[in-house]
Amino acid sequence: MREFDIEKYVRRLGRFHVEQRLNMQAHHAADIFGPGLVHIHIENMLWLHFFIKRLLQVCGVYGLGRRNTGRFVVTHNAVALPGLPAALEGLTLLQLTDFHADFSATAMSALIEAVRPLQWDACVWTGDYRGLTHGPWEPAAAELRRVRDALHGPVYAVLGNHDPLEMADALEDMDVRLLLNERAAFERGGARLWIAGVDDQHIFETDNLEKAVDGIPAGEPVVLLAHSPELYRKAAYGGIELMLSGHTHGGQLCLPGGWPILANARVPRRMTRGAWRFQQLQGYTSRGCGVSGVECRYSCPPEIVLHHLHRAPERL
Ligand SMILES: [Fe+2]
Repeated sequence: MREFDIEKYVRRLGRFHVEQRLNMQAHHAADIFGPGLVHIHIENMLWLHFFIKRLLQVCGVYGLGRRNTGRFVVTHNAVALPGLPAALEGLTLLQLTDFHADFSATAMSALIEAVRPLQWDACVWTGDYRGLTHGPWEPAAAELRRVRDALHGPVYAVLGNHDPLEMADALEDMDVRLLLNERAAFERGGARLWIAGVDDQHIFETDNLEKAVDGIPAGEPVVLLAHSPELYRKAAYGGIELMLSGHTHGGQLCLPGGWPILANARVPRRMTRGAWRFQQLQGYTSRGCGVSGVECRYSCPPEIVLHHLHRAPERL
């Protein structure tokens, strides 16, 4: 494993971004309390995860919850995107998110089997590759490589609140194009779709949407990757038409009917899973592929999403 080359990322991202990211990781990655009294990171309450696991074991439903983590559902989401060129009509994006890959090798194996029969043009990963928000990331990278090997075509990705910047080289070594407040163009038939990605907003606060979309010509279609849907207001008021997110796991431990007990995001409840809209922004919050905290899911199956893009009339 090669040393993390800070200066390489300073040249690529700017010193401010790299320093903020590394300092936030060093000081706040494992925080339970965020800024403000009502900002709590349940992903870092390890004692609570232990308590919930024991409670589920005592109630005799832990085994069921574990088996549920491998029962993937494929969702088809149709999106009408203004400005989409005719050459990109019907383009399909495969969205995978919240792998927490080292936490559940079983879920990763089930994911690999579930994507095998699917067809898509490009794949997007919306973050959370590691199980915890701190500690070694290499075991997660090893599991992710198995997933990457099962995917064809380009993969674009952002980091989540569980992922250190030091993981960037490992992702790019497996031919994943990481977008750290950056953008890339997917091209087909002489037309292009821009894929912009922001760094994590939820814990590290290193998102910079303005930088991510800088240089994209006006009128060209953009898909924004943001780990948490919490960016929705900035994205909508900045003119973004489509944002793909994860982070919430759809609640992961839900009541019958799919009602999340906790969703861990400062967004309206309707934005914590599935398709939603705010102003002109069309959003999708995936329930994700993996699990964190407790290796269980209830009334909230893991999800693979195929977004089918279609041309839409221009807004006036
Ligand atoms: Fe996650």
